[in-house]
Amino acid sequence: MRYADDAVDVHWDPSRALPGSDPTRRDLFLSLGAFVETCLIVAASAGLPVRADIAVDLAARRVARLVPASSLYDTPFTVASVQQRRCARGGYAPGRLDPATLAALTSLGADLRQLPTRGLVAPLAEADRWMFGTPAVVSELRSWLRLSPKHPRYRLDGLTDRAMALSRFEATGLAAMIAPIAYPVTSRLGGPALLAAASKSMLRYDGSVLILVGRAVSPESVVEHGRALVRVWLALSDRGLTVHPLSQLLDCPITAAALAAKLGLSPGESPLAVFRTGRPLEAPIRSARIPASPT
Ligand SMILES: Cc1cc2nc3c(=O)[nH]c(=O)nc-3n(C[C@H](O)[C@H](O)[C@H](O)COP(=O)(O)O)c2cc1C
Repeated sequence: MRYADDAVDVHWDPSRALPGSDPTRRDLFLSLGAFVETCLIVAASAGLPVRADIAVDLAARRVARLVPASSLYDTPFTVASVQQRRCARGGYAPGRLDPATLAALTSLGADLRQLPTRGLVAPLAEADRWMFGTPAVVSELRSWLRLSPKHPRYRLDGLTDRAMALSRFEATGLAAMIAPIAYPVTSRLGGPALLAAASKSMLRYDGSVLILVGRAVSPESVVEHGRALVRVWLALSDRGLTVHPLSQLLDCPITAAALAAKLGLSPGESPLAVFRTGRPLEAPIRSARIPASPT
């Protein structure tokens, strides 16, 4: 964020982007859109009339400018919705999303398709094998996973073993497999297949996976889809539901193409975000946040 007298510019830090796993910057722009939407909701909750001008400047690494508006941002969400939103990566209670909820989510400006969890067991295993078998992705995983409370940045940022609902045993095993010294060997000895097998049970229940579909014609359009994505996540959260993004299904070219075919998408449309949703069996642990530092 860069603060001026009459605007707040939203930039991204290239050192925190993931060019290996997100080469098209789909998740980068979706996440920035989610952030901009969240800023507007929080401003409206605080009684501040603010709007967002979305204009992506790749050279300046800026996505939007938050500027004064003539009225409060019109949103059904509040700062309480934002605080309550959670990702939950552990077990979920069985149960599909009901049609009324799906219709309510769609009315938030999101084109959503629903698939049963079991239908994605094999594609997720394939995407995980691809993820753990791709050195550039594993190198990024190493930099943002926090697999032990002893990690120096455990309470600062990244994805912790607890946020991923891993047991100590699972976290230690994952850390050992992707460690720089072991990886060249484990990746050849079937480590990726082993890690993929570990996540197989994750979708073996009667639940819902939602896919956000859209046209990614420009960086701005992806930012707008990110705004819709977080509105969907907040609406689910307001109903006591959590989400678990499964972006590897879109990062892996084979499973991304298979998913698009399965959904029967029109030319120009693509799946932009994939996540399971439902009632988590255990209260999820939130990821750490770097304390804000205005520049
Ligand atoms: C576009 C997008 C893609 C994401 N993909 C994944 C993913 O593939 N796997 C995952 O575990 N979390 C994924 N996340 C969730 C983020 O890791 C998580 O929301 C972030 O760390 C903030 O943590 P919190 O949700 O616990 O507050 C994604 C989030 C966004 C916005």
